[in-house]
Amino acid sequence: MEKNKTIITKKIKDIISRDNKIFLTTTRMNYPFIPESGENDIVRDVSGNKFIDLSSFISVYNFGINNTNIKKAIEKQAQKLVHPGFTDFYAEPPIKFGEALLKFFPKKFGKLFLSNSGTEANEAAIKFAKIFTDKSYIVSFYNSFHGRTQGSLSMTSSKIVQREHFGPFANSVHVPFPYCYRCPFNQKDSKSCGFACIDYIKKYALSKEISGKETAGFFIEPIQGEGGYIVPPTDYFKELKKLLEEYGIPLIDDEIQAGIMRTGKFIALDNFGVGADIYTFGKSIGGGIPMGVTLVKKDRDIPAGSHANTFGGNLLAVSAGEAVLNYIYKNKKNIEKEVDLKSKLFMNRLTQMQEKYEIIGDVRGIGLMIGIEFVKSKQTKEPAIDLRNRILRQAFDNGLIMLGCGESTIRLIPAITIEERNIETGLDIIEEIIKEENKK
Ligand SMILES: Cc1ncc(COP(=O)(O)O)c(C=O)c1O
Repeated sequence: MEKNKTIITKKIKDIISRDNKIFLTTTRMNYPFIPESGENDIVRDVSGNKFIDLSSFISVYNFGINNTNIKKAIEKQAQKLVHPGFTDFYAEPPIKFGEALLKFFPKKFGKLFLSNSGTEANEAAIKFAKIFTDKSYIVSFYNSFHGRTQGSLSMTSSKIVQREHFGPFANSVHVPFPYCYRCPFNQKDSKSCGFACIDYIKKYALSKEISGKETAGFFIEPIQGEGGYIVPPTDYFKELKKLLEEYGIPLIDDEIQAGIMRTGKFIALDNFGVGADIYTFGKSIGGGIPMGVTLVKKDRDIPAGSHANTFGGNLLAVSAGEAVLNYIYKNKKNIEKEVDLKSKLFMNRLTQMQEKYEIIGDVRGIGLMIGIEFVKSKQTKEPAIDLRNRILRQAFDNGLIMLGCGESTIRLIPAITIEERNIETGLDIIEEIIKEENKK
């Protein structure tokens, strides 16, 4: 295994100290990573340290850092015009982007709203759901993450620090997600439990807390991301949809982290055999330039002036986005195969590690959206939070960028274009660290 020890230079320390002086605290990792340049799955920091990237910078670089197609599209557009004032005036590049996106959806979808981030895409979806249904309540899951602006935050329920101090929240209720490794209903087997969690939604959330008849939308992440890379059972969303149809509640699918081929399908929810009524996108849809997209059915519209923004339809974002979409459209079959093959490389090795090491409680995922949950012991399943954080730090010290999620999970979320040899090296680094930690 190629050894690659990260050196924390004075330059790194200086930059971090200047940063800390002027920026409010955000969610920074417990390692001092200052990326400066990169190529596909390799990134270099300001001091020339080299890393394999298993984070895709939180599902943004789905097709690699500095992707040539995307870069060319941005450069070409930057020569002409960047900001067209798209919600007041007109421009062709956003239309080309929208037309490229609609090719991935059934014909009944056809109206888009463009914004600048995931949370904004979800804010728009909340408003659209309310105006389309003339109803007011929104349901989402405990453990979900839909963004941090006030409306999206009302739905987000991943960590209490994200909500503390910010209530009261909008008309939103939460229901338990099928986190089968830690079933909220203490069921032992997700195949024979009869979906106690869906029963609960019907009997309690939609019957006692709010009226199903007054509910404007039910927000989901097909795989919970920030909340811990939690994959529901295959039939879960089919059952949920049946319930929502009883009340006429629209299903709103947040594809911001899981979408755009990461799970091997353009739309991650397609892995579960159901469609949604509204879709939201962000992160990788702009190829690295900020963009949010809210997609609704073609027979829908909103009154002029009821929703708009300044920067939606930014020409760099839509040009980068169109380059991403055209690339996927032309290469879809190959990308599907690529995700499947690389997913197996990760999963085979990780499930072997799970058998060998007491500290790995669960390994789960679809495609290249994989979580490793760390525990103090397999029997108690007590979350090993410090241990997980130590592993992230040691990985960084050994030239590997990874992110945490949930309480004690590490997410493996590389570019789809990651090289196989870098998957192997990354897994070698991970295993070496886990092996040592497992002895403690
Ligand atoms: C599923 C999901 N929805 C929404 C968001 C919010 O996106 P943004 O940070 O661009 O506002 C995120 C961000 O992590 C996300 O993972």
